[in-house]
Amino acid sequence: MERKVVFSGVQPSGSLTIGNYIGAIKNFATLQDEYDCFYCIVDLHAITVPQVPKDLRKRSLDVLALYVACGIDPDKSTLFMQSHVPAHAELSWVLNTITYMGQLNRMTQFKDKARKSEENLNAGLFTYPVLMAADILLYQTDFVPVGDDQKQHIELARDLAERFNNRYSETFKVPQGLYNEFGARIMSLQNPEVKMSKSDADENAFILLLDDKDAIRRKVKRAVTDSEGVIAYRDEQPGLKNLINIYSLFSNEKVESIVNRYEGVGYGKFKEDLAEVIIEGLLPIQEKYHYLMNNKDYLEEIYKKGADKAEYHAMKTLRKVYKKVGFIPRR
Ligand code: AMP
Ligand code: TRP
Repeated sequence: MERKVVFSGVQPSGSLTIGNYIGAIKNFATLQDEYDCFYCIVDLHAITVPQVPKDLRKRSLDVLALYVACGIDPDKSTLFMQSHVPAHAELSWVLNTITYMGQLNRMTQFKDKARKSEENLNAGLFTYPVLMAADILLYQTDFVPVGDDQKQHIELARDLAERFNNRYSETFKVPQGLYNEFGARIMSLQNPEVKMSKSDADENAFILLLDDKDAIRRKVKRAVTDSEGVIAYRDEQPGLKNLINIYSLFSNEKVESIVNRYEGVGYGKFKEDLAEVIIEGLLPIQEKYHYLMNNKDYLEEIYKKGADKAEYHAMKTLRKVYKKVGFIPRR
């Protein structure tokens, strides 16, 4: 029996945060025993906002190293750079021709980014979700593990798969998003109304996977809470709720049990302990990351092998698509 396929991607557009880890990457590793997993470093997506080329190169390798450091096994999963498999850009073009402008205009991520970057409103930002649909559909993907900020994009991928299938006959598998119940949205430490993002201008808003102990302690200490003064898990205390979620996800301790244990204890002590829980959780990841970054040949081997394998699967789908839309085969 064929195994089901999992596909996901992370942009090499900054250093990864614990939001990326909890919302997405942590789950990647747990899926690899049961599914055929493809984990991509989506560099084509990253250039929809201005990048310094040499930093982009460094970060792309960083994300690969962090994938492996977070437990993804390159012998089980396929790890590769999006730009190494041209079929992504090619399918994206075809899908563009069946995507309605109105659909893309409704994308909240686009609207957000458009508001923030009026002087660089490039067409790539607008068609970004189409490229993401191409990523997913090329591999006949069943499941896409992502944070819940990507729901609308996943819906578009499903919609485009169905539209293409209806117009040209059955070609794509219709994928499903896979959202992690609690970790689906880790919020900013400075403003619990917005998600934690590596592109936040305030670096106290996020914790990076590669932050050192002092930075973690400092950022947790400064995290915004409230003036209630009681440890409780409720929507009226969103800052605290977010911190309890993070505690729970790093320690694997149930929210209820954490709340009980800290009953009557001040925020100060809770935050101190939280910082240590995060530090301890990140330590093995950081050690493995540094080890891998000193073994670049090994990383190179991983992405080369990954691209070959990914390309084989991607080309099977792309050939079908080209045939269905009426292009003459080259051979
Ligand atoms: P990105 O950094 O935008 O490429 O996101 C990579 C993955 O991390 C995607 O699956 C996102 O949904 C997920 N992600 C990013 N930020 C968060 C967050 N604050 N909470 C949960 N998941 C997140
Ligand atoms: N848009 C995703 C994000 O910002 C990254 C991404 C690109 C992706 N292509 C993908 C995620 C395909 C899952 C599947 O987080």
